[in-house]
Amino acid sequence: MVPSVLAAAGALAGAAYLNARLSLADDLVFFGVTGSVLRQVSRAIRADKLNFFYLLEERALNKTTAGRPFIVFEGKSYTYADTYDKVLRFGAWLRERRGVQPRDIVALNYQNSETFVFLWFALWAIGAKAAFINYHLQGAVLAHSLQASTAKLVIVDPSVAGNVTEEVREALPGTNFLVFSPEAEEEVRNTEPVRYPDAVRSESDRVAMAILIYTSGTTGMPKPAVLSWARLYLASMMAAKGAGLRPDDVFYTCMPLYHTSASCVGVCGVLVAGASAAIGRRFSTKTFWKEVRAANATVIHYVGETGRYLTTAPPEIDPATGANLDRAHRVRLAVGHGLRPDVWERFRDRFGIDTIFELYAATDGTLGFWNRCRNSFGTGAVGRYGFFSSAFLQRRSAIVRVDNETDLPWRDPKTGLCQRVKTGEVGEFLVLLPADDIKQAFQGYLGNQKATESKILRDVFRKGDAWFRSGDLMQWDTDGRLYFIDRIGDTFRWKSENVSTTEVSQALGLHPAVLEANVYGVQLPHHDGRAGCVAIVLDSPHPPRPELLASLAAHARETLPRYAVPLFLRLLKDVGMQNTGTHKQQKHVLRQQGVDPAKVQGDALFWLKDGTYVPFGEREWRALQQAAVKL
Ligand SMILES: *[C@@H]1O[C@H](CO)[C@@H](O)[C@H](O)[C@H]1NC(C)=O
Ligand SMILES: *[C@@H]1O[C@H](CO)[C@@H](O)[C@H](O)[C@H]1NC(C)=O
Ligand SMILES: *[C@@H]1O[C@H](CO)[C@@H](O)[C@H](O)[C@H]1NC(C)=O
Ligand SMILES: *[C@@H]1O[C@H](CO)[C@@H](O)[C@H](O)[C@H]1NC(C)=O
Ligand SMILES: *[C@@H]1O[C@H](CO)[C@@H](O)[C@H](O)[C@H]1NC(C)=O
Repeated sequence: MVPSVLAAAGALAGAAYLNARLSLADDLVFFGVTGSVLRQVSRAIRADKLNFFYLLEERALNKTTAGRPFIVFEGKSYTYADTYDKVLRFGAWLRERRGVQPRDIVALNYQNSETFVFLWFALWAIGAKAAFINYHLQGAVLAHSLQASTAKLVIVDPSVAGNVTEEVREALPGTNFLVFSPEAEEEVRNTEPVRYPDAVRSESDRVAMAILIYTSGTTGMPKPAVLSWARLYLASMMAAKGAGLRPDDVFYTCMPLYHTSASCVGVCGVLVAGASAAIGRRFSTKTFWKEVRAANATVIHYVGETGRYLTTAPPEIDPATGANLDRAHRVRLAVGHGLRPDVWERFRDRFGIDTIFELYAATDGTLGFWNRCRNSFGTGAVGRYGFFSSAFLQRRSAIVRVDNETDLPWRDPKTGLCQRVKTGEVGEFLVLLPADDIKQAFQGYLGNQKATESKILRDVFRKGDAWFRSGDLMQWDTDGRLYFIDRIGDTFRWKSENVSTTEVSQALGLHPAVLEANVYGVQLPHHDGRAGCVAIVLDSPHPPRPELLASLAAHARETLPRYAVPLFLRLLKDVGMQNTGTHKQQKHVLRQQGVDPAKVQGDALFWLKDGTYVPFGEREWRALQQAAVKL
């Protein structure tokens, strides 16, 4: 008896030890999700039910789930059965009244709302597909995005209809614009629900388009990326299984539905889990937690700098009791991507969130990576794996050395091939593609072969292989953690050194007075490379006192290499001013304006002199122009 107990104890201890060494639990989750995706996709193909409409139908017709809320928006709640009914009505209206045919692409120019979800699923219900247009767009960029979608019908949210100007309509003479007015809503209400036969949704190709979603490039025009059914399965199952959504979870998102994160990870993840999605119209630090509490949300969703804005916002105080409401919620899990290492723990601690599920997947990428993190071991990582899963992933992905002159993967002059960096070193992150049939893993951009090709790198480690270029600088460490360092191009050179803008923003973001720091390189007259400039938002609206400026300079010197300490400081008035709808910091306008006092729109400028920041104005700028100072 005793020996077997001992043996069992030994085995347990051994298992625990092995688990700690190899993180087998992380392996199990990883292979669990990957296996489920493969199984679900092949089951769906066999049944000819790849279309996610069938998942909604299954939930709506099943007694256990039909009565559960699926979509909650501004106090209105729609169960799975309600949503299904709406979707069938919207679908019948689109088909009978608007002539939408199976396989048509219809553009949706919509803010977050329940109607967005109904229209989107209704298009699926009749075998058509939605192109999600960023409703912030205007003028030529909007016209370009609509044109690139090839849609002949654009459905416009009345609240953004003013942006669909005559100029935009004239640029697209063959396109119908339909503002979804109260009259149109009335028409839909009076349309009988029709469930069209399966044949209209028939689809045998796992990589056929499910949705057209635009990549929000920081430069150039938005490009429509084909998001396939297979990828939709991956995105939604990362949330449902990887993050572990439960049927009783309420997933709150106010991130834009026109991006993959809120739509595919969020709403579709909720659908796969049979849970509820509480949708907010838009993000604001002032309404975020109020809406979270009103919805009884158990999961919140973030992208980009959302976590920073929430963490730097003042706490909400209950007017009646004077209590701090930071932790007055039921949230156990935060799901999203882009939570930066410098705010990660402050965010988690301040709001008392048990688990952070950070995921990494470019809209148009091919593999999904994630980090389910409950302690400090995974802080700041975009991926975290056990021994076996990291071995698996490291065969299918690679980090290669980058040529810092051209920003392209470095090639050996003799062999012409690229070079993997050592563990711990930084390089561009690549994902393996099947060279003989690239579409199986990467569906590319609609009608833009050139843009598609630019994401594919060939002859990387041997002649004939093909890899997807992420455009991201990443790093693996020896413990199976994967870190995002920077977008390529977000580094600049100063005094022959590379400066990572992300690294500098993170360091400065840790100064207690700094709410947001956005770092970029500016060109100066008579100087090579770019000098570091930080656009900064401080926690007080008053002009900064000299002691604060000195403390900022001292903080930068202590936490950064000398060449990386920003030479210029530009004071911005408000957090998040330079951000996109996805809360990514925008640099290009700031970079173009540089430090010419005439171009910075009245913002106060400072520069580093004798160990502190002092005002920088017309006189100092002239001195630079006349080459009277050398930095
Ligand atoms: C209905 O849904 C429940 C919960 O998801 C599931 O356990 C059950 O198998 C479903 N029933 C049918 C008939 O599919
Ligand atoms: C344009 O769109 C924005 C949303 O980005 C909206 O706030 C604004 O009201 C719209 N302008 C007009 C004229 O409709
Ligand atoms: C949230 O929970 C409270 C207390 O359990 C309940 O009274 C309220 O109706 C719930 N709200 C929603 C939107 O479910
Ligand atoms: C890249 O940076 C390193 C270190 O600053 C430098 O030695 C090298 O010449 C640079 N250029 C290339 C092409 O690697
Ligand atoms: C400069 O940046 C490149 C990537 O762009 C990197 O490979 C190289 O190691 C960097 N050099 C230094 C000195 O950091």
